[in-house]
Amino acid sequence: MKALDFPNNIQIETTSRCNATCGFCPYPEVSTTQPQGAMDQDLFERLIDEISWHRVQLLQPFLNNDPLMDPQIVPRLELMIRKNPRTRICVTTNGSLLRAPIARALAAMPLEVIHISSNGLTPGVYRATMGLDAWPILHNVNVLWDEIRRRGSKTRLVVTAILMKQNQREVERMRDYWRARGVEFFLNPLNDRAGNITTEKYVQLLPFSNDLAQSQFRETRMTSCASIYSFLGILWNGDTVTCCQDWRRTHMMGNLRNTTIYELWHGLEYQRMRSYSDQGRLDELPLCSDCGSQRFSVDAGALRDMLARQNGNPDDWASLEFLESLKGDDSVVKQNLVRT
Ligand SMILES: C[S@@+](CC[C@H](N)C(=O)[O-])C[C@H]1O[C@@H](n2cnc3c(N)ncnc32)[C@H](O)[C@@H]1O
Repeated sequence: MKALDFPNNIQIETTSRCNATCGFCPYPEVSTTQPQGAMDQDLFERLIDEISWHRVQLLQPFLNNDPLMDPQIVPRLELMIRKNPRTRICVTTNGSLLRAPIARALAAMPLEVIHISSNGLTPGVYRATMGLDAWPILHNVNVLWDEIRRRGSKTRLVVTAILMKQNQREVERMRDYWRARGVEFFLNPLNDRAGNITTEKYVQLLPFSNDLAQSQFRETRMTSCASIYSFLGILWNGDTVTCCQDWRRTHMMGNLRNTTIYELWHGLEYQRMRSYSDQGRLDELPLCSDCGSQRFSVDAGALRDMLARQNGNPDDWASLEFLESLKGDDSVVKQNLVRT
């Protein structure tokens, strides 16, 4: 497969930090072992400049962090947008730092979509899933939504939840709460972040019984991957990775302090990864070998059974609309998880 001349999908983390302690995310552990910090403004501006010379389709100001942890995120987003007016720019955040001034600033930007990662409605479930306080977040997101509507902005606001044991009894209420306000709500399946979540933890998080969970796993061999021909992940210090699941920097492609994105994209490290993929041997490499295994595939039938046992009336609850919502907007879901 021929790589694009320049990546068309770029994620840049302008800080490495996240303020949540989600039990389903590698961050709480990985942030204690990987270098942490914030991106220099010089490096940030140079990267945004270079990106603006190319036709990048999707640009996102986060990778393994929460973008609102960067105190400079508003001016940085404004620069990204000003320099890349034809690029789709999307923000994904847990919303806890989305205070009114930030909400107003985001609502004023021509962002394509703001995703709010939210895994509950009540304080107990919010704390159990993300270690965050529910009420301020619900308030923040409602303020943002009011502001988006007041401005008549075209930015989509999408709340996404991951279906897990800890929130399975609350997702229906979440769906009703957000959709009653006109906010899009999608449910995404859990995945093990290419082995970056231990199997033990992963199985505990799955919403099914152990037996049913085992029957949900799909062992897909990731012999080649579109990501390494189109995606670049840039960490706060300029290090680069080929995949948003590379939480432990398993495949570092080089550092952008000493080189350009273009040079790195055509450099030896990327060529090596692509040659494995071209030969259908990507799964011989670490990380890629774990990608595709232990994936939780949301099976509509199994989900319907689970919901029926839980709530009594599967037709009410596991409506087609709900199953449709499982198709969410997470690219992983689209690629190979959902079999409805
Ligand atoms: C890593 S976060 C970074 C952005 C931001 N901190 C947030 O919470 O939205 C990006 C997305 O990955 C999702 N995510 C994290 N761990 C996951 C897992 N094990 N399975 C599926 N999605 C996961 C989060 O819920 C969030 O929607």
